[in-house]
Amino acid sequence: MSDDATPVPFGNYQYEIYLQGLAGQTPDLPVAWDALERAAAAKLDEGARGYVFGGAGSEDTQRENVEALARWRIVPRMLRDVSTRDVRTTVFATTMPAPVLLSPVGVQSIIHPEGELAVARAAGELGVPMVASTASSHTLEDIAQAGGAGAPRWFQLYWPKDDDLTASFVGRAEAAGYEAIVVTLDTPLLAWRPRDLQGAYLPFLKSVGIANYLADPVFRAALAKPPEEDPQAAVGHFVGQFSNPAATWDGIDRIRSLTRLPIVLKGINHPDDAREARARGVDGVLVSNHGGRQVDGAQAAIDALPGVVEAVGDDLTVLFDSGIRSGADVLKAIALGADATLVGRPYLWGLALAGADGVKTVLRSLLAELDLTLALSGHRALDTVGPEILARRSD
Ligand code: FNR
Repeated sequence: MSDDATPVPFGNYQYEIYLQGLAGQTPDLPVAWDALERAAAAKLDEGARGYVFGGAGSEDTQRENVEALARWRIVPRMLRDVSTRDVRTTVFATTMPAPVLLSPVGVQSIIHPEGELAVARAAGELGVPMVASTASSHTLEDIAQAGGAGAPRWFQLYWPKDDDLTASFVGRAEAAGYEAIVVTLDTPLLAWRPRDLQGAYLPFLKSVGIANYLADPVFRAALAKPPEEDPQAAVGHFVGQFSNPAATWDGIDRIRSLTRLPIVLKGINHPDDAREARARGVDGVLVSNHGGRQVDGAQAAIDALPGVVEAVGDDLTVLFDSGIRSGADVLKAIALGADATLVGRPYLWGLALAGADGVKTVLRSLLAELDLTLALSGHRALDTVGPEILARRSD
């Protein structure tokens, strides 16, 4: 950001690219999102490719997330002075250059050796908040350090069975400067994921993606021998702790009592669940179906958004992910009532191809596209954008 009064015109990124063209340079990475996706798929080994690109069952919901966003169409307006735009957003106490955060994604070392550390550096440079996963390849403390002192960051909690371990994760996140806790509710069990099953691929069983557990004092105290001496026993304890299929809403009260940080419940799709979240005193909900990785056949996340916004939008922060593939998609989700969006797989494509630089390129491109789409649709700010800017495609 240049200063408080003057927002960065993210769209100017295109002039930077064209100017480099005068010196004979063209972008290192594919610019079109689908070409970037294909290049990333070609780069990864089969196991990682299946994990990142795959979803639950027939992957019908994963596809539907994207298709449902395409059914919403923007109706551009003309002659409305769009010479300056401002997409800066504040959610809770976190200010961000645009209503875009990075979705929590586990085990990123399978995508790039630096994994979450590279993502934290790229996000930190741009001031885009990263939501660090419980199932990360690096510890939440190392991720915080990689992002740098001022980098906005939230922590995603996979809610373990042991209350003391839950408290330890939350306390560590607070101590490391995370500004909100995102509790993922949609993974009480791992879904049936054919690509991973075909390759019998689950990195956690090889101690990859469990760094937060292995470093945790409560987790370690429950082991007969330290993980360095008996890694398989540590993996076994992780498997037993990772998720809790017996969890119910009452558990949210316990999590609420652990922290004064804002709490967001991730995986809310039904308006009644959103109302229950509000009754339990949390601060926000994240409308998401985990990118189609959990319930195959679930409705598209964007189709769940309006009902949740109607139920609790006046009282709670409503965030959105699952299917965001462009700046236009961010604009559509905001128009349908989301306060901010999270982008998932696209930043992993950048990570796969070029580490931190690749993530930065993806984010700069997404913000540029958002800024330009906003302007060219006739708007200067996102808080004045509502469903009236959209029409439904007639299928
Ligand atoms: C995820 N997601 C996820 N969510 C979460 O709460 N904790 C996690 O550790 C992970 N891990 C993870 C790994 C991979 C490889 C993917 C693709 C996704 C879900 C993620 O936060 C987000 O909800 C989806 O990625 C959004 O969908 P799209 O936009 O990626 O399709």
